[in-house]
Amino acid sequence: MGKPKILVIYYSTYGHVQTIAQAEMRGLQKSGKVDAELYQFAETLPGDVLEQMHAAPRDTSVPEITTEILAEADGFLVGFPTRFGVAPAQVKAFFDATGALWSKGALLGKPMGLFFSTASQHGGQESTAFSFLPHLVHHGLIYVSLGTPSPYMFETDAIVGGSPWGGGVIAGSDGSLLPTHKEIEIAEIQGDLFADIASKLAAPDPDLSKAAPAATSGKPVEATTSEKPAEAASVTPKAASPAKAGGRVQQLVDKFKNLFKS
Ligand SMILES: Cc1cc2nc3c(=O)[nH]c(=O)nc-3n(C[C@H](O)[C@H](O)[C@H](O)COP(=O)(O)O)c2cc1C
Repeated sequence: MGKPKILVIYYSTYGHVQTIAQAEMRGLQKSGKVDAELYQFAETLPGDVLEQMHAAPRDTSVPEITTEILAEADGFLVGFPTRFGVAPAQVKAFFDATGALWSKGALLGKPMGLFFSTASQHGGQESTAFSFLPHLVHHGLIYVSLGTPSPYMFETDAIVGGSPWGGGVIAGSDGSLLPTHKEIEIAEIQGDLFADIASKLAAPDPDLSKAAPAATSGKPVEATTSEKPAEAASVTPKAASPAKAGGRVQQLVDKFKNLFKS
């Protein structure tokens, strides 16, 4: 089995989050434990609006993420600037297109970490992370928080983006603050730590053969029409059945138990 494939996926209007995404990539690569690939979310705003916002030219060398590419990867570090304390519509639009992946449990048990940018220190880095968590929870993604692995995260006499929720940059109200070496180092640490956890989760575990078989009793519960995303409509109930998901969940529980035993 090769190394797990980890995607760093970002949205950035002015470039701050892109710089942090590149630092996350360096952290992943430095670990030597994963293969890392960089993607960006598609832009959804019209050109004239972007012009009024003085958006930076889009870096067309970075490919756009698709749901197919997402489904094939083993883990994700996702970064975006805040919009009124929550994720931007560009990121929401992409996740709103992942209903078919949800119905197949395609992301179930895969790790995801987050990173951010805000204009001001109290502009919402933490609320942006917190309010994004339902996307992870509904997909069964495992949120990998950052904790406080860098002394820079305790500084009170300097502006430092990033928090236990993930790496971050404070851009300034006019966007003139470039990511500092401290913010970049925190992001590199996040990439390194994430690679460690993702590689452990993806490692083949001989003990899994002893995992309990998938639950087969009980009638599979199908989502009601109002709950079912449009993309899921063509998916058979079997593909979305909790019995199938139950087996994978049991395997993950066993894997976690083994991780914490060692
Ligand atoms: C519509 C809009 C809403 C924003 N809301 C906030 C906010 O709530 N708090 C904040 O600190 N910055 C806010 N910002 C500033 C952006 O977060 C900032 O431009 C961004 O972090 C820069 O990252 P980027 O260079 O990667 O685009 C907002 C910007 C826009 C355009």
